[in-house]
Amino acid sequence: MWPGLVQTAKEGGVDVIESYVFWNGHEPSPGQYYFGGRYDLVKFVKTIQQAGMYMILRIGPFVAAEWNYGGVPAWLHYVPGTVFRTDNEPFKNYMQKFMTVIVDLMKKEKLFASQGGPIILAQVENEYGYYEKFYGEGGKRYAQWSARMAVAQNTGVPWIMCQQWDAPDPVINTCNSFYCDDFTPSSPNRPKIWTENWPGWFKTFGAPDPHRPVEDVAFSVARFFQKGGSVHNYYMYHGGTNFGRTAGGPFITTSYDYDAPVDEYGLPRLPKWSHLKELHKAIKLCEHALLNGDKTNHSLGPSQEVDVYTDSSGSCAAFLSNTDDKNDKTVEFRNVSYHLPAWSVSILPDCKNVVFNTAKLTSQTPVVKMIPEKLRQPKWEVFVENAGTWGEADLIKNSLDDHINITKDASDYLWYTTSVFVSDDEEFLKKGTKPVLLIESKGHALHVFVNKELQGSASGNGTVFTYKYKEPIPLKAGKNEIALLSMTVGLPTAGPYYEFIGAGLTSVKIEGLGNGTLELSENSWSYKIGVQGEHLGIYKAESMNTVKWNSTSEPPKMQALTWYKAIVDPPSGTEPIGLDMLHMGKGMAWLNGEEIGRYWPRKSSKHEKCVVECNYRGKFMPDKCFTGCGEPTQRWYHVPRSWFKPSGNILVIFEEKGGDPSKISFARRTVSS
Ligand code: GAL
Repeated sequence: MWPGLVQTAKEGGVDVIESYVFWNGHEPSPGQYYFGGRYDLVKFVKTIQQAGMYMILRIGPFVAAEWNYGGVPAWLHYVPGTVFRTDNEPFKNYMQKFMTVIVDLMKKEKLFASQGGPIILAQVENEYGYYEKFYGEGGKRYAQWSARMAVAQNTGVPWIMCQQWDAPDPVINTCNSFYCDDFTPSSPNRPKIWTENWPGWFKTFGAPDPHRPVEDVAFSVARFFQKGGSVHNYYMYHGGTNFGRTAGGPFITTSYDYDAPVDEYGLPRLPKWSHLKELHKAIKLCEHALLNGDKTNHSLGPSQEVDVYTDSSGSCAAFLSNTDDKNDKTVEFRNVSYHLPAWSVSILPDCKNVVFNTAKLTSQTPVVKMIPEKLRQPKWEVFVENAGTWGEADLIKNSLDDHINITKDASDYLWYTTSVFVSDDEEFLKKGTKPVLLIESKGHALHVFVNKELQGSASGNGTVFTYKYKEPIPLKAGKNEIALLSMTVGLPTAGPYYEFIGAGLTSVKIEGLGNGTLELSENSWSYKIGVQGEHLGIYKAESMNTVKWNSTSEPPKMQALTWYKAIVDPPSGTEPIGLDMLHMGKGMAWLNGEEIGRYWPRKSSKHEKCVVECNYRGKFMPDKCFTGCGEPTQRWYHVPRSWFKPSGNILVIFEEKGGDPSKISFARRTVSS
């Protein structure tokens, strides 16, 4: 999709593509590098170069980005003595090594602008300024070290550090925010650069959809150039999909659509894309005066002002703004009246004619539809996982240990399995009542199985990762097996010492037995990392037959721990494709061995504040303009067209708790106006 996406950006009036570099994608184990497939960084940079565009390479290698563990490899947390993002030898050594690998790769391919390539700026670290204080003197030393280490890489292009107020010369500190017109670089000799203007926001499983109105996005951009801004970037202009297990959080959705100008499926989002295209055109008409002129500022009213750029060649460009968030206003500028809608900027590339006002939309409103396309009579095959430890246990311990410390993120799944003996003379057996199982966990989600039967589920959410489970369970006389499938839903992505935030069970007990409460936390627990099908890679053609699949014309419904496999045809047409998982429970999906990612049609509360129409006027915050209250946060899962073969495509689903696979369908994303 890269050439098409880059082209859509270019047509949208974009000159520079900014991208992070994902350390945990490129260095899956220490010293083992991967640059294949979606991680082919050189190919990506060259795609941009071929389109005649420039690039900002944000190496980090800590990146946040709603990406698993903020981009840092999970293995690094287990290198003894490592603390991320501070003056810590192992962290610095591994960081420098990776940074050098990336820089050397770019140099070898002559990709820095100093070598004739497209990369005009490079970034080290990411918003460390917010967190530095939590690390004391070590934090200060680390920030300075990062800057020096980067500069010593000798790329011939400037380095930037975003939200890093103490960035030492020659490193340029830059701004990330919804608005950066007020931003001043730490030194007057540095350009005013905006690395992240968020034109929307990301989604969290179980929360509604955030939207940022384009009038406000355009307003923020125009204000930035009005106030002397130079480089401006949208984050994201295209967010796409966090395939597989790359979404972090916890609980960030597989979709990273972001309400961005180019949507998850690669289509221009209208009117956002087109309105910003007009804005970019208007700003470029001011180019000569902006780059060469002197700026003067005049007040035109209590919340109205004009900034005028004039240069010696006689070029003149003006930005008239009205930052009143309620009232339109008519202002006088050079003896002409101009009507300024509330919260808007007018751009006058010749200081006379308004070519663009940020609040005036001219393009049509499109209708975007997901047109369902039933799977054509798929033949299903099914493989059911054991509820509890399969094969040999990875660990047996008389304690509840941290989930992530055990899985080291090799899988979302970790089985905690134990047994409970119930004697025949237990009162509850005679009375016909049920004892109650109580579980406490640091997060993120859980399915409870007793004697192989699913009893229920629990999970935290994007704000509170922890959860409790309290439900009656059917115990029988004799031995009972309690198998708890604990899950992570993406590792944390940012925050001080975020790598130490744990997950998994902290307490398990049963109430309502003859001897009172039965404490199970120090029982003998068998631990098993991952589920078997995942371990064997049964979603891949080459290892599909390592288990015995059962053929069925009617796939079983509402059955936990079930793998489904179907041969499917590609949907007709050429439009992008989403996989409709509305009727499934929770799990993961693959097509032809490619990871589609986590699915979970978890609904947001209908009591959240949603809007029918969003008032663009006034400061934006992610919760200002929600839609989809009471609906699944994510119903469709992007399956790139390029993953399909003309026939014989293998769709594999792992369903954790139960769903109706006969209702799975593809949908074509269509746009009409
Ligand atoms: C920023 C961060 C980005 C991304 C963004 C929110 O603070 O630098 O990586 O996480 O927030 O989408």
